[in-house]
Amino acid sequence: MTSPVVATSGLQLGGVSADDIATAVGTPAFVYDAGVIRARVAQLQRALEGVPHSIHYACKANGSLGILRVLLESGVAVDVVSGGELFRAQAAGFAADQIIFGGVGKTERELGEALRAGVHVISAESLDEVHLINRVAEQLNVVARVGLRVNPEVRVDAFHSYIKTGEKGAKFGIPIDRAYEAAVTAAALPQVHLVAIGMHVGSQISQFNAYADGLARLEELVTRIRAAGISTLEALDLGGGFFVPYDSETPIDLAAYRALVAPVITRLGLTLIVEPGRFLVAESGALLTRVLYRKAGGTDGHEILVTDAGMNDLLRPSLYAAFHRIDPVSAHDERSVSSHDIVGPICETGDFFALARMMPRVGVGELLCVRTVGAYGYSMSSNYNARPRAAEVLVDNGQFAVITLRETYEDLIRRESVSPQWLNARSNDQ
Ligand code: LLP
Repeated sequence: MTSPVVATSGLQLGGVSADDIATAVGTPAFVYDAGVIRARVAQLQRALEGVPHSIHYACKANGSLGILRVLLESGVAVDVVSGGELFRAQAAGFAADQIIFGGVGKTERELGEALRAGVHVISAESLDEVHLINRVAEQLNVVARVGLRVNPEVRVDAFHSYIKTGEKGAKFGIPIDRAYEAAVTAAALPQVHLVAIGMHVGSQISQFNAYADGLARLEELVTRIRAAGISTLEALDLGGGFFVPYDSETPIDLAAYRALVAPVITRLGLTLIVEPGRFLVAESGALLTRVLYRKAGGTDGHEILVTDAGMNDLLRPSLYAAFHRIDPVSAHDERSVSSHDIVGPICETGDFFALARMMPRVGVGELLCVRTVGAYGYSMSSNYNARPRAAEVLVDNGQFAVITLRETYEDLIRRESVSPQWLNARSNDQ
C-alpha cells in the first residue's frame, strides 16, 4: 500500500489520492469507489422497501468482474443481454436464478446457454423469439420462464435519441398493440411458462411521464391477459433508466418513483423488477488521464489539451455529445481559468471529452479526472487506433487494487494471424 494518512492537497477518490493511484497503475485508468456503489444500492433498496421487488443490475453499464462482485455482495441480482454477459455474470458468482436474460437479438446459441444455465427469466422481444425459445426449450427438455418485453410507445424524455427505447418505431420489444396476442400465444406453448410482462423506456429518464404512461399500458395489458385465463404472471419488469446527474442537475426522486409504481404493483399483486445500470455505478467511476500536450488553435481560439485517454476509452462525449465534468487532480489557482478543448489522441475530429470547457491552467504531465464514468465507460471502450484498453481500479475502504489489468500490445494481436488457414477448397477457373 501507499503511504497512509498523509493528507495530500490533490483530489481524492474514495479517500485515496488520485495521484498515488495514477503513479501506481499508470494512465488512463478507470477508478471506482465501491462505497458509492453500495450507497446507491442501499438508496434504491430503501426507496422500494415494502414493495415486493427485485433489483437486477443491468451489467451492460459495467460488466467488469470486480464491479459485479461488489454488486453481488450488496445483494442485487443481474440483467444480461448476451451470452458474453451471461458468462461474465456467472464468472462473478451470480447464481442462474438471479439472472434475467434480455436483448433484442438473442441467437439460438445464446438462448440455449440461458436455458441450460436455468436463468430466472428470458425476456423475449418478438413472437418469433418466443417460438424459438419454445423450440430450444423442447430440445433441452426444459420449460422456459419467459417474460415479454413490450414497447409501450410512449413519449420519452432523454437527452439523446439513441437512448430512447420506448417510443413508437423503436426496434425494442413487442409493439403494444400486438402484445396481448403475443402473450396469449406464448402462454399456450408447451415449453413456455409466461412469468413477466415488462418494458424499458430508455436511459437517463429525467421525467416520469414515460414510466407513468408505460405503466398504465402495462397494467391494462396484464388485466386483459388475466381475463383470458392466464394466471402464471409473477412480475412486472419496468426496466432501468434512472436519471443520474453529470453536472449540477437535480437527482432522481426515488420517492416519487415508488409512489408511481407501488399502487400498480399492489393492485396487480405482482413483484416489481427494476433493471438499473447507470444509477448504481455511474457516479462511482472516474477516469484518470494525463495531459500530453498543450497547444493553441482550438475551436474559437481555445487552447487545446491533448490527453492520453481518448474516445476509445470513453465514447460517450463523441457518440452522444454527453457532458462529463473534468477536474484537475492538483489544486490550481481559480484565477487562471480559461476555455479549453480537451481532446484525445485518436485520429478523429470527434475524439474529444469537452469543447470550450472552462478549466484552470493545467500543465503538460498533469492529471485530469473525468467524472461520472462508472457506467458505459469501460464497457463501451475499444481498441481503436490499436490502443490497449485502460486499467480498472477499485477503491474500497482506503485501499485500492487493480481489478482489470491494462491491456498489452500482445493482447491486441493474440487472436490474429498473418498466415491464413483457408477454410474452403481453392476455386479453379478451368
Ligand atoms: N434494461 C434494458 C432492457 C436496457 O436496455 C438498459 C439500457 C437498462 C436496463 C439499463 O439502463 P440504465 O439504468 O443504465 O439507464 N450507452 C448509453 C446508455 C445505453 C443504455 C442501453 N440500455 C449511455 O452511455 O448513455
